[in-house]
Amino acid sequence: MSVVVTGATGHLGRLVVEGLLDAGVAPGDVVAGGRRTERLADLAARGVRVATVDYDRPETLADAFAGADTLVLVSGSEVGRRIPQHTAAVEAAQTAGVRRVVYTSAPHADTSTLVVVPEHKATEELLAASGLVVTVLRNNWYTENYVATLGQAAATGEVVGSAGDGRVASATRADFAGGVVAVVTGSGHDGRTYELSGDHAWTYDELAAAAAEVLGRPVTYRRVTADEQRAGLLAAGLDEGTAGFLVAMDQDIASGALADATDTLRTLLGRPTTPLVDGLRAAWQESSRDV
Ligand SMILES: NC(=O)c1ccc[n+]([C@@H]2O[C@H](COP(=O)([O-])OP(=O)(O)OC[C@H]3O[C@@H](n4cnc5c(N)ncnc54)[C@H](OP(=O)(O)O)[C@@H]3O)[C@@H](O)[C@H]2O)c1
Repeated sequence: MSVVVTGATGHLGRLVVEGLLDAGVAPGDVVAGGRRTERLADLAARGVRVATVDYDRPETLADAFAGADTLVLVSGSEVGRRIPQHTAAVEAAQTAGVRRVVYTSAPHADTSTLVVVPEHKATEELLAASGLVVTVLRNNWYTENYVATLGQAAATGEVVGSAGDGRVASATRADFAGGVVAVVTGSGHDGRTYELSGDHAWTYDELAAAAAEVLGRPVTYRRVTADEQRAGLLAAGLDEGTAGFLVAMDQDIASGALADATDTLRTLLGRPTTPLVDGLRAAWQESSRDV
């Protein structure tokens, strides 16, 4: 088996590459791709093949995908540009003779109103029409997304949001990467679409309690309206686009778009997913080291 992983210069893709090696895939059978390939020097030193993968430069895709059996297509991070980028990746996979694509999507991408969903839905549709063997991994939210919330809680003792009592079935990036590895190295996943999540869908009250435990200080959840949240974010210096995105996310959460906790990721991993407080603590410690 040879597998090429896009986005390996990012958080999730790197964890997938490391997980494949840990699972016993030979380094020479793994291609780690991204644009900032200087970030992959340590993997190259371990024998992993490093390739430039730039969705906007199809020639890089042809080179990187040549000879691969499996493409792990980690969704790109340039929101608004991902449909043509993912289209280029799927076309390159077809041309290169890749057999199977494993794609990281979003929860209930076919029906959800989640703000990030349209590009994932379109990508799932083009994959379905591609004739390739496809496994879609609809990843719920990363626990690590809430590191900034912890920063706010550390400073103010508050988690401020307009998500009401909505729930988030998050898991850590390492959990989701483990799901990718299980699918790539296991069998029976061809043609399947999985809703992947943490074992437990938590509320912002639980987020505040977890933040308090990590930070060692009282933290409470202050419910605000969408307009109040937007005003607060703008007053804190965020730009309109970022503030609007964060408010839209909380509105999605309030409407239940991230509330679906399944046992599918847990089953793929063969262990429980990482509890919220443990995932937050690790991410907080890592972000504190980065500062
Ligand atoms: N479920 C969630 O909570 C959640 C949250 C945020 C994002 N996501 C999605 O999950 C993906 C992986 O998450 P992550 O945390 O690993 O993100 P990340 O650390 O930002 O990594 C994004 C990766 O996408 C690559 N990329 C972006 N544009 C590209 C392009 N034009 N051509 C080739 N590669 C490109 C980047 O490569 P270079 O850096 O080398 O350019 C990087 O390796 C994200 O890209 C996004 O689609 C999910």
